[in-house]
Formats: sequence, C-alpha cells, structure tokens
Amino acid sequence: MKILFINACMRGKESRTLRICDKFMKKYKSLHPEDIFEEVDITHTDLKPFDAEKAQERIRLTEEGKVDGEMFDLAHQFANADKIIIGAPYWDYSFPSALKIYIEHVSVNTIAYKYTERGLAGLCKARKMLYITTSGGFMGEFAFGADYFRGLCNLYGIPQFDSIKGEALDIITFDTEKLLQKAFAEAEDLAEKW
Ligand SMILES: Cc1cc2nc3c(=O)[nH]c(=O)nc-3n(C[C@H](O)[C@H](O)[C@H](O)COP(=O)(O)O)c2cc1C
Repeated sequence: MKILFINACMRGKESRTLRICDKFMKKYKSLHPEDIFEEVDITHTDLKPFDAEKAQERIRLTEEGKVDGEMFDLAHQFANADKIIIGAPYWDYSFPSALKIYIEHVSVNTIAYKYTERGLAGLCKARKMLYITTSGGFMGEFAFGADYFRGLCNLYGIPQFDSIKGEALDIITFDTEKLLQKAFAEAEDLAEKW
C-alpha cells in the first residue's frame, strides 16, 4: 500500500494538528510496517496558483493526452496513492490557501477524474481519505475544511472519508492538553481499523 501524507500543518513542529497526524501515523505504521509512506510538504513549497496562461496550457495538454510532463507529477502521485491522509489547521473557516493551491495541481481532468455522459467519474485509486484538523474555537456548522474534502472524495471516486478534529484549542480557560489527548486517542483508535 502506498500512503500519501499531505502535510499542510503550517506551524511545523509547533502544530497541534501535526501532533495528531503523527500519533495516527505512528500507530498505523506499527500495524502496517510494509506500507510505504510518501509526504508532500505543503508548508515548504513554491507551488503557484494557475494563472490564465498556465490554466490554458494545462487544458490543452490534457485534451491532447500529454499528461506525462512535470506539471502533472503531483496529480499522478495523488491519483496513484492507495490511502490519503491530509493534515491541515482550521484557518478562516477552512484551511491554509497553500493546500488549496496543491489541490488545484492535483485535480486534473483525465488523471484525478474525467467527464462522462453520466457526469463526473473519479479516477483516483485511493479507497480512503483521512482529514485531520484542529481549531481555535468550535467549528460547528462551519467545518468547511472537512466538508470540502468530503466533497472532493466524491469527485475523485474515493469511497471512504474519515475526519479527526481537535477543537477549542485556543480557548485559554480550557484544558487544551486534555482536549488534545482525546484527539490522540481518537486517532489511535481509527488507525487500528483504517
Ligand atoms: C491564519 C489563522 C486563521 C485561523 N482561523 C480560525 C478560524 O476561523 N476559526 C477558529 O476556530 N480558529 C482559527 N484559527 C486558530 C487555529 O485553528 C488553531 O490555533 C489551530 O489549532 C491551529 O492548528 P496548529 O496548532 O496545527 O497550527 C486560526 C489560526 C490562524 C493562524
């Protein structure tokens, strides 16, 4: 199994989201030592959003079936992963923009999905996606990060979506370490059956 970890935990070692990801992956690796992990580090990337020229070029290349260039490397890596883990803090009701730019790079027609007479059909190999996030307050009905990736699973043809969240971590009167421990336990439980 090839596991792709997309790390958008922008605060690096300080990140509580990354600590939950690490707990999950440590447990998962102990149970599946044969699986191969690849990481895309969104926190240090010079990926650019698609401007008019690049967007047109990409559409032309996909229409011509020329999707083997460097421009498509991230999309192939994503589409070929067996399981995908995304770690991203809750920023401005969703997640850091660097992650959205990465998504632009992987959501390629004919690699991640295709159009059919019956609508969009996902082409990604992954059977599972896990989204791990933490927030300063409570996300409530505005958990747009998890909701967005749940929606993308539908586009990519990934049947199972799971998410783990650690909420209210910036409410200083709360015992945030205790809240984190709860998220760690949830992560380790899920790792046993994921
Ligand atoms: C740029 C930015 C935007 C944020 N937006 C929100 C927000 O909309 N709602 C919220 O509850 N917390 C928000 N927070 C707080 C973070 O979600 C919270 O601190 C989270 O635990 C950060 O994760 P990390 O420790 O992995 O970096 C924001 C923090 C930053 C730096």
